[in-house]
Amino acid sequence: MLSQDDVIEISEDSNWSYRPDRQTAARMIRSLESGKVLYFPHLAFALKEPERRFLSPGCSDGKAKNVSYDPRNGSIQGTSCKDQDSNDLAAMISRFAAQARALIESLFPHYTPHLEQARTSYRPMPVQRRFRSVRKDDSRLHVDAFASRPNQGKRILRVFTNVNPDGQPRVWNIGEPFEIFVPKYYRRIAPQWPGSAWLLERLGITKGKRSFYDHIMLQLHDRGKMDDAYQQNADKITFAFPPGATWLMFSDRVLHAALSGQYLLEQTFNLPVSAMQDERCSPLRILEELYQRELA
Ligand code: SIN
Ligand code: FE
Repeated sequence: MLSQDDVIEISEDSNWSYRPDRQTAARMIRSLESGKVLYFPHLAFALKEPERRFLSPGCSDGKAKNVSYDPRNGSIQGTSCKDQDSNDLAAMISRFAAQARALIESLFPHYTPHLEQARTSYRPMPVQRRFRSVRKDDSRLHVDAFASRPNQGKRILRVFTNVNPDGQPRVWNIGEPFEIFVPKYYRRIAPQWPGSAWLLERLGITKGKRSFYDHIMLQLHDRGKMDDAYQQNADKITFAFPPGATWLMFSDRVLHAALSGQYLLEQTFNLPVSAMQDERCSPLRILEELYQRELA
């Protein structure tokens, strides 16, 4: 049986530029890379008073799952906000993006030169009201893998902050270790048809080539989510992240599911496995060990 200490490590830090002492820093990177969630119960994102108007599902465009911001060019998508509202919302998300980056850089300075900051999201819709297919249902345990965005083995590092104004926590399930999950499915992974990666890219379905690694990760994502018995019986703990809390993890390795909550900010980073302290902890190297071949 999993216990909370197996999957979550708590830090009392309340500062986005926190530099832990050497011993703490070493422990944190080990925990992160080996598949724990690092949890900062007192690390809050401060909204400015006028930004409280964005604490409403109304700032979603009603079509996209999330409001999505690109820190590389400042563009914002998935919102119904216009003109000044749209600029102000982008400014709020951009401030979060900068703080999330500062946090990762100060906790893991070795990552900094290799860190790619990807999209930032704001999730103003309640989790339980999102209507989606089983594959898109993030209330089922999964590791992150994106059909349209292959990453050739790069890690997916995500920072989350609950900004709910009504005391509502973000409730997650956190699952068993990746090394225990993978052997349950890896023999059932469908082959990747020759030429399919080329075709998907050509048709614009994927941004870049879907490597065999990406194919396996997607299959693990889908097969795990579609397996009702697994979802019911898998070893997991339920954890409530309160408002004012921040947590981060490698979401391509930590099995997770969002059960409830509303108003979340999230920043995604990509990191090449070579930038890790121990790349054997990466899904890429774990899968390569199983398949006995290069996968990306
Ligand atoms: C997910 O990454 O699967 C969902 C996380 C959340 O929205 O709480
Ligand atoms: Fe996810």
